[in-house]
Amino acid sequence: MSAMTFTARDIKDVAAATTQCAILPLFHGEKLSGAALKLDKAANGAIRSALSLGDFSAKAGESLMLPGAGKSKRILLIGCGEAKTFNREAARKFCQQCYRALESTQAGEAMLHLAALDLNEKEAEWTLGYLARHLVAASYRYTETVSKPKAPWKLTRLVVNTHSALPTRAASTALRQGRAIGLGINEARNLANLPGNICTPAYLARHARKLARSSSSLGVTVLEEKKMRELGMGSLLSVSAGSDQPAKLIVMHYKGGKSSDKPHVLVGKGITFDSGGISLKPGAKMDEMKFDMGGAASVFGTVRAVAELGLSINVVGIVAAAENMPSGSATKPGDVVTSMSGKTIEVLNTDAEGRLVLCDALTYAARFKPETVIDIATLTGACVVALGSQATGLFSKEDALAEQLLAAGEEVYDRAWRMPLWDEYQSQLKSNFADIANIGGPGGGAITAACFLSRFTEDYRWAHLDIAGSAWDSTPKGATGRPVALLTRYLMDRDGQ
Ligand code: BES
Ligand code: MN
Ligand code: ZN
Repeated sequence: MSAMTFTARDIKDVAAATTQCAILPLFHGEKLSGAALKLDKAANGAIRSALSLGDFSAKAGESLMLPGAGKSKRILLIGCGEAKTFNREAARKFCQQCYRALESTQAGEAMLHLAALDLNEKEAEWTLGYLARHLVAASYRYTETVSKPKAPWKLTRLVVNTHSALPTRAASTALRQGRAIGLGINEARNLANLPGNICTPAYLARHARKLARSSSSLGVTVLEEKKMRELGMGSLLSVSAGSDQPAKLIVMHYKGGKSSDKPHVLVGKGITFDSGGISLKPGAKMDEMKFDMGGAASVFGTVRAVAELGLSINVVGIVAAAENMPSGSATKPGDVVTSMSGKTIEVLNTDAEGRLVLCDALTYAARFKPETVIDIATLTGACVVALGSQATGLFSKEDALAEQLLAAGEEVYDRAWRMPLWDEYQSQLKSNFADIANIGGPGGGAITAACFLSRFTEDYRWAHLDIAGSAWDSTPKGATGRPVALLTRYLMDRDGQ
């Protein structure tokens, strides 16, 4: 995993700073000034002549690598477009352009002259946070099951020259936060990318123990099927009934706050493979159902980021891990199971299994006397139909909580969109043979799934994130690590960071 490090330094004399690659943002149609002017002088006018030759005009998306001179071995010009239209979207493009232009470089270190972007302090911090996160995430390589993986990125160190742009301390903090989010994103992606034959519920449990060893603030307990049976988790166990892989309920405790501080609880759907069970899925793209533990992966990633940041809050991460398979012992359509809450559930479709594992995990969550509970799940195809892959579906009856999550997603460009959770939808879950059915018919599938969960979350403040569309890309196939950035930002806000 990316070992990239980031450092902020205040360097007044740009020409005297030794670097393998000076990164210089330039705006279209502007005269060279400040760091650009000094570097140009040190490089005998190379920047000026690149501009006058017309090969590079500093439009957004352009970049040019020049051999340097003096203390800067290379000079990388990044086009930023018009200065007056430089907003966050342009700043994100700048960060992406930095990675793309440096992707094939042999340089192990680079230095960004931040002042050239001419931002106010708040926007400079934001840009550095996004840059660190993006460089860490963009340089992620999936290596686990390929014999000749793509070579790792050469660049391992970025120095940011903060001179006249931002206090070095503020820059360090922004870089540290962005890096932590990037590492969390990669953690989630790596777990979700692993195939179902490797990433089983037992694998996730072992992974949680490994993660806990990396931080003194982290602890883990794993509930085995025997314990879950004693607790009455008949709904969760009905999903693993057809699988040779036993289910695991993984509970990670991050203790960064006072022992009396109520924890923020995250609950992730961890279906390590969803065949649909007896209500078997069609064959096309069934391989993608290895990503059905994307919610769990985002819990791991967020816990990792929170531990990395050392937030002064308490967090409990719960992962409901199971494999959904057909077999002679599998749950059948029409079966009635009893959940830990005591409510009985008619399983009309064994492919609506996510809510069956989540409802028991959500009932279990109440014992931590949570501040809030947020579940994250690749729950419904209907959410993909409604929102595509751009937005995560957000469901909550708590307006304040919903606003906080939306704002967090907006801030870190990992956006969610609120969907209704009106009581009017609840009647679709009526069953003739149990307290509740596990499917709600053809209309509003993402909403009725959320309504199902709402029946088990009445004792605390709760929100549900449906990430069926946002958690992975189809072309090229791969996990996105969403919504780790949203969740980490949300928790940072709770800590007041
Ligand atoms: N894991 C799927 C949801 C899913 C589908 C995620 C496509 C990503 C892409 C979930 O377990 C499921 O199968 N849901 C069913 C529910 C239905 C049977 C009510 C669905 O969405 O079709
Ligand atoms: Mn399913
Ligand atoms: Zn599923």
